[in-house]
Amino acid sequence: MIFELKEEHLAVQEAAREFAQKDLKPGVIERDSTMAYPKDQVKKMAELGFLGMMSDPAYGGGGMDTLAYVIAMEEISKVDNSCSVIMSVNNSLVCWGIETYGTEAQKQHYLPKLTSGEWIGSFCLSEPEAGSDATSQQTTAVDMGDYYLLNGTKNWITNGGTSSVHLVIAQTDREKGHRGINAFIVETSWPGVTIGAKEDKLGIRSSDTHTIMYNDVKVPKSNRIGEDGFGFKFAMKTLEGGRIGIAAQALGIAAGSLELALQYSKERETFGKPIAQHQAIAFKLAEMATEVEAARLLVYKAAMLKDAEQDYAMASAMAKYYASEVAMKAATEAVQIHGGYGFVKEYHVERLFRDAKITQIYEGTSEIQKIVISRQILS
Ligand code: CAA
Repeated sequence: MIFELKEEHLAVQEAAREFAQKDLKPGVIERDSTMAYPKDQVKKMAELGFLGMMSDPAYGGGGMDTLAYVIAMEEISKVDNSCSVIMSVNNSLVCWGIETYGTEAQKQHYLPKLTSGEWIGSFCLSEPEAGSDATSQQTTAVDMGDYYLLNGTKNWITNGGTSSVHLVIAQTDREKGHRGINAFIVETSWPGVTIGAKEDKLGIRSSDTHTIMYNDVKVPKSNRIGEDGFGFKFAMKTLEGGRIGIAAQALGIAAGSLELALQYSKERETFGKPIAQHQAIAFKLAEMATEVEAARLLVYKAAMLKDAEQDYAMASAMAKYYASEVAMKAATEAVQIHGGYGFVKEYHVERLFRDAKITQIYEGTSEIQKIVISRQILS
């Protein structure tokens, strides 16, 4: 096993780091505070190719591998997790879902718009009564011949206020349980799609999270993804890859917390020496560094298994579970190391601390990841 990144991956890392430090860092505190959507920053992400990194160049994508994607996600997530979740949902849920399971016509129509950032996508699985228990879908899509009639409500939808296209999971035949679920590509301009108010969140505050209502939306049959009844498996397969993206986001939060804590502890002096020279702080830094490294190895392993077209369901669950726990712990320690300065916005660690929490919740809570992992090791 080689632990050095190839030149092409180092180049992606450099580009993402430069973008994060130059374009995202100035203004990130204010955007978080005012919940302002990062419109200019998303435009720049599109120009740099970060919105369709893994998609085929034939559809306007960057043609890069998952490893390149997680490397970019880590660097961007060290600074701005509103931008990195927008990037993650667009890349690994929406573009990947359409490219892997869509028809050629669906790919031709939707992917160039999504990879270029002209359109942004949302993944609409969660409902008021169906979060972790994803088979309990209440949204219905009734087969009307050449179209489906879609009705229902989706909750916590990332990119909900700005997206032009939704991947919507809905029940088409309740009798069949999870085999009676389908996935549809829905355009937000279609009659009957209503966007609810933007959520006021603990973290990732400038990303736009909304409730979405579908009221008698006519979805052409040609916009169903896969065979009839494939929707639940589509959601599960897509989330397997999505979880690698969120694991990389969590890794970025942890690594960013460590970088800030290292910098501060070398500058800040107490009792006549930099606080990094006190064992109480040095040991915290040692623990953080070790856990960040272990999380990175799990994230890279999941990405590399996906690139090698091997099974990565358990690896992605482990990466997300572990990296998000490390993110929460590292951000907490970074605040502690900063003392009072860690409790105010200026030093960036309090934002990472708030952002870390969502990585233990979305795209499958830590508890759901443990279900996935335990089922695999016990099977
Ligand atoms: N790949 C393919 N098929 C899968 C699968 C996978 N990874 N996981 C399950 N399936 C199949 C099973 O084989 C089974 O099919 P068969 O009966 O034909 O064998 C079927 O799906 C049902 O599986 P289970 O019985 O295991 O289903 P379950 O009800 O026990 O649920 C679960 C499994 C893992 C808990 C699942 O419900 C789950 O992942 N829940 C969490 C949902 C989630 O992650 N939500 C996040 C919302 S999206 C989001 O956050 C996006 C955003 O905007 C940031």
